[in-house]
Amino acid sequence: MRTTVGIIGAGPAGLLLARLLSDAGIDSVVLESRDRPYVEQRQRAGILEQGTIDVLRAAGAGERMDREGLRHDGIELRYDRTRHRVDFPALTGGRSVMVYAQTEVCKDLIALQLKDGAPLLFEAEALAVEDADTDRPRVRFRHEGREDVLECDYVVGCDGFWGVARKAIPASVSRTFERTYPFGWLGILADVPPSHDELVYARHDRGFALLSMRSPSVSRLYLQVPEGTDAEEWSDDEIWAELERRFETDDDWRLERGPITQKSVTPMRSYVHEPMRHGRLFLAGDAAHIVPPTGAKGLNLAVGDVVTFARALTDQRETGSSELLDAYSATCLRRVWQAERFSYDMTTLLHRAPDATPFEDRLQLARLARIASSRAAETELAEAYTGFPVD
Ligand code: APR
Ligand code: PHB
Repeated sequence: MRTTVGIIGAGPAGLLLARLLSDAGIDSVVLESRDRPYVEQRQRAGILEQGTIDVLRAAGAGERMDREGLRHDGIELRYDRTRHRVDFPALTGGRSVMVYAQTEVCKDLIALQLKDGAPLLFEAEALAVEDADTDRPRVRFRHEGREDVLECDYVVGCDGFWGVARKAIPASVSRTFERTYPFGWLGILADVPPSHDELVYARHDRGFALLSMRSPSVSRLYLQVPEGTDAEEWSDDEIWAELERRFETDDDWRLERGPITQKSVTPMRSYVHEPMRHGRLFLAGDAAHIVPPTGAKGLNLAVGDVVTFARALTDQRETGSSELLDAYSATCLRRVWQAERFSYDMTTLLHRAPDATPFEDRLQLARLARIASSRAAETELAEAYTGFPVD
């Protein structure tokens, strides 16, 4: 098999990249190790920045998003039994975000790709990227019980944190930056209307909690739990009781309970691999970087990477100059580190470390009080949450 751009992974990064390339008249092949139902059912985050919304619309994948997505003009910070709303449009000159689940974005992109896009192969596992530093990089893969080779002009590793693409970059040129956290998130989906019409980020002495949603009738909620927690250790009643405690306020706000349809634990990590390019191999999305979910940046960063790559390759084809392709890693990393900083700040602002001291507790409360009382501090949060520009 031969193509211009070999794409490994059909998460949001790989699927959107295939779409952007076909719009630019550049052919590609997507290899995805899992089957279609698995990719379409995997529960992930759900906040789209304005830039992401614009890109999905321009790629022809915005129709259902515009119908079913929920526009959000703010979030609530909850601490010390009080509530503070951050008004995004007022602080950022009109920017807002949209709640539309990543799984739905993937479903929409898969449907488009299978209808009139380049080949998208499910149950096709990339085994290795070879000859990345030559003009003819190759992906060795297994599909329908056979080993095959995809010969490419470029390979883009969109294969997530556990993928194989990153391993093709020699250790001598790689640098990694990592931080793990001694806690994770226990996430639930529940068949109950969300108890608030915007997301609630709660800081509590017992740990962080987040109220989010998937639709007007489905709630998505998270609890900070110790690292290594098994979701089955928590009964449904225990989960609701703990959420109630962490969201408790001095006013008459109440958390509605409902049947829990899904629960799982997500570990928390910050990770960056530099550079994001080696020869003709490019890394995009979780293959190159991970952020803890507190800032809702993972999906939006993946979109930024593939937009940068598609523009750079299009420019190279039109002008003959490889300047933008050569700048790919540096361009993406500037944005990535801003998202790493914000995600880290949000995480340390709102979570309680197991060894937190009373001094650190007071500092967290002081940081929150500062956001609630200073327009400058609040604007900084609103600008970062609603998104950094793609370039
Ligand atoms: N061969 C083929 N496909 C692979 C391989 C492989 N060897 N290894 C992994 N994959 C596939 C996975 O099955 C997955 O579908 O690559 C895809 C990677 O997708 P994601 O993990 O969703 O990563 P990405 O597209 O970068 O999206 C980032 O996902 O994890 C969230 O919070 C993160 O929202 C962010 C987004
Ligand atoms: C979600 O809805 O899954 C979600 C929302 C906001 C976050 C993380 C996850 O910061």
